[in-house]
Amino acid sequence: MFSNWVIITKRPYFNPTMKQDSEKRSILVTSALPYANAPLHLGHILEHTQTDIWVRFQRMYGNNCIYVCADDAHGTPIMLKAEELDISPEELIDEIYQDHKATFEGYRISHDNFHTTHSEENKILSERIYNSLNEKSLIDKKIINQLYDTKKEMFLADRYVKGSCPNCGAQEQYGDNCEKCSATYNAIDLIDPVSVISGTTPIISESEHIFFKLSQLKDQITTWLDESHIQNPVRNKLNEWLEGDLKDWDISRDNPYFGFLIPGYEDKYFYVWLDAPIGYLASHLNYLSKNNDESKFEDFWEPDSQNEIFHFIGKDIMYFHALFFPMILLNANLKSPSGVFVHGFLTLNGEKMSKSRGNFISAKNYLNTLDPDYLRYFMGSKLGTGVDDIDLNLEDFKQKVNSDLVNKYANIASRTAKFINNHFKDTLSTELDTPELVEEFVEASIKISESYENLEFSKALKEIMSLADKANQYVDSKEPWILIKKEGNEEQVQSICTTAINLFRILTIMLSPVIPGFTQVAKDFLNEQETNWHSINDPLLSKKVKKFKPIITRIDENHINNLIGN
Ligand code: 2FM
Ligand code: ZN
Repeated sequence: MFSNWVIITKRPYFNPTMKQDSEKRSILVTSALPYANAPLHLGHILEHTQTDIWVRFQRMYGNNCIYVCADDAHGTPIMLKAEELDISPEELIDEIYQDHKATFEGYRISHDNFHTTHSEENKILSERIYNSLNEKSLIDKKIINQLYDTKKEMFLADRYVKGSCPNCGAQEQYGDNCEKCSATYNAIDLIDPVSVISGTTPIISESEHIFFKLSQLKDQITTWLDESHIQNPVRNKLNEWLEGDLKDWDISRDNPYFGFLIPGYEDKYFYVWLDAPIGYLASHLNYLSKNNDESKFEDFWEPDSQNEIFHFIGKDIMYFHALFFPMILLNANLKSPSGVFVHGFLTLNGEKMSKSRGNFISAKNYLNTLDPDYLRYFMGSKLGTGVDDIDLNLEDFKQKVNSDLVNKYANIASRTAKFINNHFKDTLSTELDTPELVEEFVEASIKISESYENLEFSKALKEIMSLADKANQYVDSKEPWILIKKEGNEEQVQSICTTAINLFRILTIMLSPVIPGFTQVAKDFLNEQETNWHSINDPLLSKKVKKFKPIITRIDENHINNLIGN
């Protein structure tokens, strides 16, 4: 059993060349699928940034890493939202799809494919998986009682009914649990229930529902948990759930619903949470088809394949990803996830984000004010393996970014490049002035790569910034601006500045997974596009750099004022 979030099997970390094909890990990575009924918020950006940093690191390190995502396009809220807008659900999800895709691109999220769960691939896969579970006798039917809105002519999901808590009497509680006393209950037990949709009193009505027999799979779940990469707090929570009774899972919803019909039924649909995670497979299949590689799909999802599959999710959807989904895959004879990685929520200035209370930044509007890399850096600096919430305190954000990225990182190049540009025709020296310092940075890259691998981004960035401090101290101590004033020192100044630029270059490579935009500008200056993690080993000597242009500008108070409430 893994006692920690440790993915490292002992492989040689510091391989000066890119990996041979046979040594490359083949990894499929996903972020949770955003619902196609609203624009993205910064919580989505936190999750996608965390995933993207890891994915970019894996690719740079030489592994085959495919990152797929999709819109989660089914379910009652999407159906009702389309009704409210007087458009079809298909129109709504198409519009939102374009919006989500553009926003993710704006944040430099490097999805290999961004698909939708309302797709042919997903329909076929959902049916196939359902049929396999059915063949294994893991599908059951039961008659259940539910609240029914006679005006709207639909059964009411828990969040569409409110009433008084059957336990403590608190008013205005939803159909599943009480916010006052935390009791969980069945919606039909609410006192004086009212439909949130029509405002009428619902009746209790019977309906046949289809269940996945999760209750029979306790041993299998326990084994999967033991063998998978799961953070300890998450493992503990899951074990707590496992200690109680596992209930069969209701995977059907009655008409009207926006989703896929269940094979053999005319009026029953797969519950959105059944086909949503299957959307990961569908997006992967769609990606492979686009590359004419469809035939690789079956091999990839073979239960015993050596491929790795990691899901990045928020702590609110652990149950679906760490209990239901792996059991569905395993029993459909498909590969189950190698690990699930859970993060906390994003708060803004210490409070829950809320549009109505004005404590809110829309993901799209942030992009109108600031470069995404500032936020990516700040988020990276807060991300580790914990599941605690992460606070975006805007004052901290401004200070951290200005101090780390502008004063430390970019400063190394901005104070030394001008000598290379102005005195040495843009050319780096043939030798380093202080090779041992460069060697120290190269050595440090081993630990930093381990931190990235283990999702300890905050640790990696701290280490990188302490190297940036060292680089600046080096320049301070060498005082090239004084040396250059005296004739005969030229060669020394060139090799000092070449050393500093090499340190800057190593930091650029190390920071690339986190701030791909800024580091691209730095790579343009360094005149090298094709770097990977292992390029850290080879110093840049005797080469021409470009004219230096500022890489990162400071965030000021106006930027911050423009962000909030927008
Ligand atoms: O909680 C959510 O936002 C869901 N749309 C996440 C789905 S993730 C996956 F399972 F599809
Ligand atoms: Zn209560």
